[in-house]
Amino acid sequence: MCYACAMKLEAMLDEVGRRALREALDLTEDAPALLRPTQDARFGDYQLNAAMALAKKLKRPPRELAGALAERLQGEPAIASAEVAGPGFVNLTLDDTWLAARLGEDLRDHDADGVPPVAKPETIVVDFSSPNIAKQMHVGHLRSTILGDAVVRLLRQVGHHVIGDNHLGDWGTQFGLLIVGMREWGDEAKLESEPVDELERVYKLARARAKEDEDFAESARAELAKLQTGDAANLALWERFVAATRHTLDAIYARLGVTFDEWLGESAYHELLPGVVKTLEERGLAREDQGALCVFWGELADAPPKLKKQKEPFIVRKRDGAFLYSTTDIATILVRRDRFEADRSIYVVGSPQALHFQQLFALAKMLDVDMRLEHVGFGAILGDDGKVLRTRDGKAVRLSDLLDEAEERSLKRIEEARAEGVLRIPEEDVAAAAHAIGIGAVKYADLSQNRLSDYRFDWDRMISFKGNAGPYLQYNYARVRSIFRKAELDMQRFEAELRLDEALERVLARRLARFGDVVHRAAEQAEPHLVAEHLYELARGYSAFYKEHTILGAEGATRASRLALTALTGRQLKRGLGLLGVDVIERM
Ligand code: ARG
Repeated sequence: MCYACAMKLEAMLDEVGRRALREALDLTEDAPALLRPTQDARFGDYQLNAAMALAKKLKRPPRELAGALAERLQGEPAIASAEVAGPGFVNLTLDDTWLAARLGEDLRDHDADGVPPVAKPETIVVDFSSPNIAKQMHVGHLRSTILGDAVVRLLRQVGHHVIGDNHLGDWGTQFGLLIVGMREWGDEAKLESEPVDELERVYKLARARAKEDEDFAESARAELAKLQTGDAANLALWERFVAATRHTLDAIYARLGVTFDEWLGESAYHELLPGVVKTLEERGLAREDQGALCVFWGELADAPPKLKKQKEPFIVRKRDGAFLYSTTDIATILVRRDRFEADRSIYVVGSPQALHFQQLFALAKMLDVDMRLEHVGFGAILGDDGKVLRTRDGKAVRLSDLLDEAEERSLKRIEEARAEGVLRIPEEDVAAAAHAIGIGAVKYADLSQNRLSDYRFDWDRMISFKGNAGPYLQYNYARVRSIFRKAELDMQRFEAELRLDEALERVLARRLARFGDVVHRAAEQAEPHLVAEHLYELARGYSAFYKEHTILGAEGATRASRLALTALTGRQLKRGLGLLGVDVIERM
């Protein structure tokens, strides 16, 4: 009876609905079933909205169409009842026996816990983190880093070939300033011992001086030009700056558990830029204006209407011959297409850069690039005052300081909870747990938000064993582990027949059955918060069940079935948290 094994639940129900629709209404062509999960369990589990959409076209009352559809669905093994509701919806309630069998299949899916692979795997480049060299990583890069990492994990989970690329800002105007600045104020010893601090200090001085002193600014530009045309001395300095920053970055990524497949910074595309600019000119997409080479959207017939009104041009070469961020990004697209043969390229970059990407993608299209290009934007992290998060003295918060604080606070909370007897983390595991809980809390707080909104950074809510927070989910996972330790069974391998006799078991089963759909939707829409939401609801559903019913105290088939529900819960928590880059803890 397994017509659904390798299929997501919603896809399968959708197909059932579609077939019933065609047969019930004698349609000659397929019409979408318009399946949605219901918001309120009183209206069943899923809803088909097709009748409403078809009524106009078929010139028949929607309720009548819905009635025919509902009737046709009687006897479907997956569906216990199909009822017409409201002006013409069909509410579906899943059949418990069918659902139990379906979850049994997920239980046996040891490799993917019921998340099927996509039918057509694609090659996808995810451009994320991408900080600028010679600067400390600030909290602004935190979101790109952890969101991007989650997007990579999600897309990989559903079977795509994913290339995570750190597009470092390692070739911009800052290097001209750094080179002249180092000559003027540089401290060799500090460049060795605390390279990034030293580079930042010098950069600030140089930038301030360049604002007031035109000769200084001019010499910075000249040094940049020398660097970009291959001057050996400047290249050697540049390499030192890059290596020093790389070192600091590596330490942060290791702490966050984030890795990349490629580190193709802006400098990697340097040699391609003259060719890119030439192509743009030849194709009539860019023209000179006061010495600079620009794309004027209003002058291009094929430009998207939204950009045509854009007065400011998209500059691809400055008056002094220097190329820009935008030029590099065009070259990058071509490389991703030609060298990586990517079907899609995803940019996880803050929403303030939306216009840059709109212009970039429009230009790529006019260059006949047929790769799906997507900007995955995100909002800001705010402090208590509702403004972008800063330190008390108004400076940008350093990522490394923030992570230190996360681990310190988590350690404190753990010690308190151990003293109260709420947590039972063994002494020797406390340090590792403080790391997993602290870093996990920061990541979860970020990833559980809709990425487009700004959110307020709140330590107390974030490091909490209650409510929608990372530690609460880690705690729920550890509880599952503890049950399996007591039962002396292997959670990952446990198999049993499921039976859904109790109301709370039926609620929990419905939540568990959604996992595959949730992961796919989150991957497709680059929305990790959908996974977070699922895990939180799952943990709540499981807790309610756990409070009401004994698991290890039950007998025979009931005990086995409850252990199966527990195993599925644990496995989804583990896999789901893993998709968010949050580590689980075995004992808490
Ligand atoms: N380095 C840039 C910044 O810090 C982000 C780069 C994003 N990636 C890209 N291909 N433009 O703002």
